[in-house]
Amino acid sequence: MRHLLSVTDLSVEELDELLKAAADIEEHPDLYAHRMEGKKLATLFFEPSTRTRLSFEAAMYELGGQVLGFAGANSSSAAKGESVKDTVRTVSCYADIIAMRHPLEGAPWAAVQSSTVPVINAGDGGHHHPTQTLADLMTLRKEKGRLDHLKIGLCGDLKFGRTVHSLIEALARYPGNEFILISPWELRVPAGIINELKEKNVAFREAESLEEEITSLDALYMTRIQQERFFSVEEYLRLKDSYILDEEKMRLAPKDMIVMHPLPRVNEIDVKVDRDERACYFKQVMYGKIMRKALILKLLSELDREEAPGPVKITTGKHCKNPRCISTTEQGLEPLFYPVHQVTVQGVPTRIPTKYFCAYCEMEQV
Ligand code: CP
Repeated sequence: MRHLLSVTDLSVEELDELLKAAADIEEHPDLYAHRMEGKKLATLFFEPSTRTRLSFEAAMYELGGQVLGFAGANSSSAAKGESVKDTVRTVSCYADIIAMRHPLEGAPWAAVQSSTVPVINAGDGGHHHPTQTLADLMTLRKEKGRLDHLKIGLCGDLKFGRTVHSLIEALARYPGNEFILISPWELRVPAGIINELKEKNVAFREAESLEEEITSLDALYMTRIQQERFFSVEEYLRLKDSYILDEEKMRLAPKDMIVMHPLPRVNEIDVKVDRDERACYFKQVMYGKIMRKALILKLLSELDREEAPGPVKITTGKHCKNPRCISTTEQGLEPLFYPVHQVTVQGVPTRIPTKYFCAYCEMEQV
């Protein structure tokens, strides 16, 4: 059984296969109209959504399947205190596949411990959003013709913006890509992702001025300042209008630069930019539905596939330090960590654990 928790659960070859499948679905939708007959998708959304939930549901209906679920924690037994694991174990009795969104980081990793059907992460806190990345990859492939050798500016809330984290992880695996990370100092990309870029020798630069950087980009990925993730209202109010893309700034941009945004937007893109032919964010919405159709078909056709064992997880007797991690609230969820070993010390072979990362939210424990 396959799940999609992080975009790295898919190899580059599998991403390319999904893009190919999506192109065929887009061209011949009728050929796919009955492929999921008799199958049910459950959408478990503990956090608000318009695009992700409705595009999953539209995708399943267009494949001939059926849909059940809830669109808010308050309309499920989570409001009575039911755990994620119990909810998912229950829903596994009713549905063939689950798409879930949760405000806590790592919640889908807890869900798969009790699920008997494939689980798709439809966004967990400020952590990951792999199916938005599928939409973003299809947009880049169709609008720029390639996924490699791109100079991509990511602008706005790069700290809490889960779509940014997943997109960087995906594009960092294609050769020649360069990231320009444009944000206020307080909302920079988390250190764990920066360290990964350094370890993989991926070109990137952190910057603060959108006006200076927009002049040389292939794609500009704007993001909303994520109000719901801030601990302080004052901090949000201070940072909320850090970047506003308007017609004046678009005049500085290359003629073939595309503008992307996972949406919803608040006011970081002036509505007048919508009529610029470089604005691609509503195309992203449509591509998202098509990629989700391809993903549902893939996961439900690979139910019997033997999964390669994942990295070793261990207990340390400690709890995760991230207050936004599912392991801090979920009853009966054992704290687990990925140890990273130092293989040699002064040339002598050893396997001393030097770092630990939470197996749910992936935060390094310090
Ligand atoms: N892009 C995205 O996740 O949108 P929703 O929050 O509306 O699902």
